[in-house]
Amino acid sequence: MSFPIERPRRLRRGDTMRRLVRETTLTANDLVQPLFVVPGKGVRTEISSLKGQFHLSVDEAVKQARRVFEAGVPAIILFGIPEYKDSTGSSAWDSEGEVQRATRAIKRELPDLLVITDVCLCEYTSHGHCGVIKNQDVDNDPTLTLLGKVAVSHAEAGVDIVAPSDMMDGRVAAIRSALDVAGFTQTAILSYAVKYASAYYGPFRDAVGSAPGFGDRHGYQMDPANALEAIREAELDLAEGADMIMVKPGVAYLDVLTRIKEEFGRVTAAYQVSGEYAMIEAAAEKGWIDRKRIILETLIAFKRAGADFILTYHATEVAEWLNER
Ligand code: PBG
Ligand code: ZN
Repeated sequence: MSFPIERPRRLRRGDTMRRLVRETTLTANDLVQPLFVVPGKGVRTEISSLKGQFHLSVDEAVKQARRVFEAGVPAIILFGIPEYKDSTGSSAWDSEGEVQRATRAIKRELPDLLVITDVCLCEYTSHGHCGVIKNQDVDNDPTLTLLGKVAVSHAEAGVDIVAPSDMMDGRVAAIRSALDVAGFTQTAILSYAVKYASAYYGPFRDAVGSAPGFGDRHGYQMDPANALEAIREAELDLAEGADMIMVKPGVAYLDVLTRIKEEFGRVTAAYQVSGEYAMIEAAAEKGWIDRKRIILETLIAFKRAGADFILTYHATEVAEWLNER
């Protein structure tokens, strides 16, 4: 069958017809809102590299979490900016740390909002790397023990899902076993299984002060040129017990997302990272793009590519838009 019998435009006639035949949908259920927690009280400071996002003290984070929850977004992911840093990142597993306190406060007020925590050391180490340093290199195996401690401290605070983002080998197994030994068999693991060494993280590193003090992250994060390696990374993390896997960054890696989803058929998330957000916001501010349409078009692309859900700084605002309709 071909033209003039087949006319694809018939199914594009009018919004109602388009709604009927639409292949993919975007709802508030597909979104996760990142929040940045800082020391102090009554702090709500706009992050200069992430306009529209805020550094929030625990009390303000609870307020923001309520807005997220009321918009219908099922989950937040917390990042902490600690009071102190040292060579091992020990403030990452401090039970009085920002993430731990925020988790307790948010779960007390909003028990049905899922709390995900980023498990990594780079925000907490004085050198800004995602693990402990030996001979100017991140030492894999000793780092695993520390990541286990971080995950357990988050579980003790009540998180639903821990999300290791460090890209050490074997960390999913190490975290699973640390959680299980501590009795947290129901705490899920969302692994940043496929995380590239990306320039798109720039604004985030400014926001949390985690830029490495020497060198870069190419020795542990993935080479942007590789896709087969991404499949292997996902396979390893699933074998080690990851409940869900993530691909990061987003738009530049949609091919990888699709391949991972098709290969494993497991719950697969995508992270639209800070640089992607910043690019949209900057172009919108210039008046060069239609901000709302660009945001929605980008998020539906993630769904079309196979994402089950998307971590995005636009989550709450988008959920509010979707509720309006
Ligand atoms: C921590 C971490 C990073 C991001 C999430 N977790 C930064 C990095 O790896 O340098 C980036 C998030 C973003 O850019 O929005 N390892
Ligand atoms: Zn890190």
